[in-house]
Amino acid sequence: MSMPLTVVIFGATGDLAKKKLFPALYQLCLHKHLPRSLDIVGYGRSDVNLPEFINKQCAGIKEDPQYAKHLFTSRIRFHAGGYDEDESYARLAASICEYEATQPAANGIGNRLYFLSVPPSVFGAVVDAVSKHGRAPAGGFTRLMIEKPFGRDSGTFAELNQLTSSCFRESQLFRLDHYLGKEVILNIPTLRWANQIFEPVWSRQYIESVQLTFKEDLGTAGRGGYFDSVGIIRDIIQNHLLQAFMWLAMEPPTAMSAAEIVKAKVSLLRSVSTLYLGDGDGGGGFGSVFLGQYSRHGDEPGYLDDKTVPAGSTCPTFAACVLEVNTARWRGVPFLFTAGKGMDERVCELRVRFKPQPHNAMMGIVGHQNELVMRIQPDEALYIISVAKEPGITAEQVRKPVVMDMSYAQQFTGAYLGDAYERMFLNCARGDQSLFVSEAELFEAWRIFTPLLHEIDERRPQPVRHPFGLYPRGYHEWVAARGVTIRETWNEFIALHGD
Ligand code: BG6
Repeated sequence: MSMPLTVVIFGATGDLAKKKLFPALYQLCLHKHLPRSLDIVGYGRSDVNLPEFINKQCAGIKEDPQYAKHLFTSRIRFHAGGYDEDESYARLAASICEYEATQPAANGIGNRLYFLSVPPSVFGAVVDAVSKHGRAPAGGFTRLMIEKPFGRDSGTFAELNQLTSSCFRESQLFRLDHYLGKEVILNIPTLRWANQIFEPVWSRQYIESVQLTFKEDLGTAGRGGYFDSVGIIRDIIQNHLLQAFMWLAMEPPTAMSAAEIVKAKVSLLRSVSTLYLGDGDGGGGFGSVFLGQYSRHGDEPGYLDDKTVPAGSTCPTFAACVLEVNTARWRGVPFLFTAGKGMDERVCELRVRFKPQPHNAMMGIVGHQNELVMRIQPDEALYIISVAKEPGITAEQVRKPVVMDMSYAQQFTGAYLGDAYERMFLNCARGDQSLFVSEAELFEAWRIFTPLLHEIDERRPQPVRHPFGLYPRGYHEWVAARGVTIRETWNEFIALHGD
């Protein structure tokens, strides 16, 4: 019988717990991935009425007939206490011990998983208190799952890291980037290294550019206060897109173990040039980055209309930057990162654009280039844009871009594509760190972005205001000047070429 597990969620009354954490834990119970003896404790500052708390925070659970929701929610309790109240953590620890003592065949031992979804201001107090009061007795594990932000630059990351590493070993720290739990990103190693056709062309010899794009058709809507202190580069590019980049560009690790994966990631990051702002072009473009901010368009309010955003803020809600990778494989291939809120669609995709077909006497110049696209969301898919002869009897052959499409929904009919948080909880419970973010890679990730972020924070360059749903003016030219040709996303492609 497996050991009892207590999951403590700090920040249990928050949005993340409601939208992701409780639904993920329910799914893991439904699929019998967690021990039968499971205790879930929500920790928050003020006392709650338990049934009301459960009603509200578990509203997003999609109940399956195989597992009644009330069986899951009956495992949840709430512990009220301040984040800096020593005595509250001591009470929490006592209640966990009490739970463990009552579990069959546990000998009073249990495993403990602490999920920290708390603001940076209280992060230190929680880590310290868990270390002091919350450790599992010998024989059980103590693990911390930590949500971003992992600092806001190299210096703050170093402080935070000092704090966690003075209390816990690296093997106990599970820094979470939920993009690493997304199915299409999880598939990249298999795509690259279990297929014969990709790895031989995966280099500067055949690839013209790699484009990593994140767009949301939502603004900050009430979350602007937080967002304004962060900006889109820290919110999306330095973490989610950078993680996808690592899987796309790293050399094959010698094994798929956490240690070997970290080595491959860190070695890649070390070969990436540090970013600096550079000179402005009079619009949103600078040497290293293009900055935009969405504004009102029709009924869609602009960023500055969000009441929680400081008046006149120059915080970028849209940004693009090009990373240079100085390795034999990639030298000269631009990696374009683009992320924006207040855009036309919600999409995240990774696009590998191949060089044009060299001239050959028979074909003449082929006017279309191949692209391999990994669509992370929505509707997970992999597709290849290739060139085909248009059917028909014509004097001249007409060639057209066509799509070789592998949509997950069609290919894996009935497969369960869980939410990224389910995968992350499960891997943490199993002690598998291969999908978590290591101290070493964060050190490098912040090294790449810190000078640029500091310059943006200090100089406050004016981003190009663009109407909600439209690309900022000047973006396409800025990108083209860096050797990247951008093609439509899937929706745009369908609109142009038909389904
Ligand atoms: C979060 C960002 O990390 O990721 C949000 O803070 C963003 O701003 C979210 O909306 C996107 O995640 P997903 O899984 O919805 O693509």
